[in-house]
Amino acid sequence: MKNTTVSLSRKKAKNEKITMLTAYDYSTAKLMDDCGIDAVLVGDSLGMVMLGYENTLPVTMEDMIRHARAVAKGCEEALVVADMPFMSYQVSVTEAVTNAGRLIKETGVSAVKLEGGEEVCPQIEAITKASIPVFGHLGLTPQSIHAFGGYKAQGADKERAAKLILDARAVERAGAVAIVLECIPAKLAALITKLLKIPTIGIGAGRDCDGQVLVYQDMLSIYSGIKPKFVKRYGDIGDMMKNAFLSYMKETKNGSFPADEHTYKIEDAVINDLRRLYADAGDDAWK
Ligand code: KIV
Repeated sequence: MKNTTVSLSRKKAKNEKITMLTAYDYSTAKLMDDCGIDAVLVGDSLGMVMLGYENTLPVTMEDMIRHARAVAKGCEEALVVADMPFMSYQVSVTEAVTNAGRLIKETGVSAVKLEGGEEVCPQIEAITKASIPVFGHLGLTPQSIHAFGGYKAQGADKERAAKLILDARAVERAGAVAIVLECIPAKLAALITKLLKIPTIGIGAGRDCDGQVLVYQDMLSIYSGIKPKFVKRYGDIGDMMKNAFLSYMKETKNGSFPADEHTYKIEDAVINDLRRLYADAGDDAWK
């Protein structure tokens, strides 16, 4: 059965954890969907893990649309959420609604996510009024990397923790259907999770959030850029890939690949006829 924003809310009510991972392409999204994941996030982290940028800031609407479309095709049951990239919603409420609308119309995803607290509530309200479900994102919001001065845990002191609570409540009041809490103390995330009716999805926010999300290249050890403390490595797929690439290179060089079973056949008689034809025409290569 297709997961929806309503089914995620029900999970919170039933105390059932929500599972979410990022994906950026059809094949990976399909593998996750086959496993029965609740939700897939087409994160703007694609800028780093797929496009090799230093941070998420250069990601464009076109990047998001191309990847979100592929992921949506791969997900029959998972709810697919697409990030609104940097500067696609900050400038004006009108632009925010237009861009959220493009993500829905042009990709087939069911919800959008945007970063920020009270300052983006007018956008969340307007997008919600356009019948587009919105996920909020608080804590370490990577689009504010320059304002934060680096990837650092957020909300550890009283003032900032209180501000995060205010923001979370404001985002909920504005109509968000869920909030991603990134890189904040576990006890603060637990408190916010209790205070809100909508589900919280944690990434580096402890186990008491209503669900968890990870960037799949991080949990599979495929991405060799930053390695946050909150990532658990569920597989060494990066090493497996490197070993496979090395074996392929070795076998290509020593001629053991391709073997007979990877090779298409032709009757010897056909080759002999060709050989005669070209030899008669004086082509030495065929002698
Ligand atoms: O872009 C992304 O992948 C995200 C997750 C880190 C939550 O926003």
